[in-house]
Amino acid sequence: MVGVVLPASRIRRNGRAMGETLTILGLESSCDDTAAAIVRSRPGAAPEILSSVVQGQTALHAPFGGVVPEIAARAHAEKLDICVEQALAEAGLGLSDLDAIAVTAGPGLIGGVLSGVMCAKGIAAATGLPLVGVNHLAGHALTPRLTDGLAFPYLMLLASGGHCQFLRVDGVAAFTRLGGTIDDAPGEAFDKTAKLLALPQPGGPAVEAEAETGDAARFAFPRPLMDRPGCDMSFSGLKTALLRTRDRIIAEKGGITVQDRADMCAGFQAAVRDVLAGKARRAIDAAPQGLTALAVAGGVAANRAIRTALQEVAAQAGLPFVAPPLRLCTDNAAMIAWAGLERFRAGERDDMTLTARPRWPLDTHSPTLIGAGKKGAKA
Ligand code: KG4
Ligand code: ZN
Repeated sequence: MVGVVLPASRIRRNGRAMGETLTILGLESSCDDTAAAIVRSRPGAAPEILSSVVQGQTALHAPFGGVVPEIAARAHAEKLDICVEQALAEAGLGLSDLDAIAVTAGPGLIGGVLSGVMCAKGIAAATGLPLVGVNHLAGHALTPRLTDGLAFPYLMLLASGGHCQFLRVDGVAAFTRLGGTIDDAPGEAFDKTAKLLALPQPGGPAVEAEAETGDAARFAFPRPLMDRPGCDMSFSGLKTALLRTRDRIIAEKGGITVQDRADMCAGFQAAVRDVLAGKARRAIDAAPQGLTALAVAGGVAANRAIRTALQEVAAQAGLPFVAPPLRLCTDNAAMIAWAGLERFRAGERDDMTLTARPRWPLDTHSPTLIGAGKKGAKA
């Protein structure tokens, strides 16, 4: 499919004017999901996701207890073409119906990002279609504009297995990081907690389900960095506190009961919830007046307790709360196609010199985050 060369007459090149219908193919391969999607925007109409294909790699990495970069990269290289073909077929389109190809060019696991960039370059070279490199974090951060038509500026909490940051989003390429995790991402902490308690991966849904029957008040887990000003967060200490609690119970009773486990999950989840909600309140206070909403993205936004707490924070600040549907909160290619579409509409293009970047901070003015999660060093 990548080798198909279109007749020159059917190739649409750069130069589509603002306000025209745009149809963009997006590719995502920065972590453990291989994805391709097609998004279309028509003047005066809400954007449409014509197709969105995601092939996860959970089963491939499960025996190793975490994402193995080499396995991920190989799987992306094998699956990207298939995902692109499926995305085109589901949308009922051919390559000649596209206006551009958007691809995640970072940050992420470099082998995976490279696979996506090479695939996109191959299609661009074969078809003459323009190429747009997209920052994965911008994909997440711009999703509320795809789903809800949100106007700038808004506050975005990105909370997943690989990222955690508060961003003020002022434009397609204007992001200010108000704070972020200095160690683990919250999803990563949920995953590690699940592992410590012999629950399945991904840990978030498993810990949330356990927490439902647990007593959050039984164990006093810390609320890290809440005693310090600012919006930075820390989650690795929480996981250590949970480990100590688990080992203390085992030492006392010779093992943990189902109720002990539920209580630990409830206590852990309440601590993450309080930190995210407390820091969201601060981020709102730190942002200038005129925010249109508090928006969330990332797998952790699926957690009902966390979602409800953030909703309350937004309501107290008089802001709408925007949480895109879960399939668009977690890693997907529709967000990459959309972010690419926004960049393309703004006149931005990349060429064959586009490089894959393991690190790519959205806000180059903020100090580098030092934590390392399942995607490697944080952007
Ligand atoms: O955004 P995502 O699909 O992938 C990236 O990490 O980029 O997020 C996955 C993360 C995992 O760490 C998973 O445990 C967490 O989101 N997660 C949850 C829940 N569902 C998924 N965390 C807490 N509660 C949940 N219900
Ligand atoms: Zn992501």
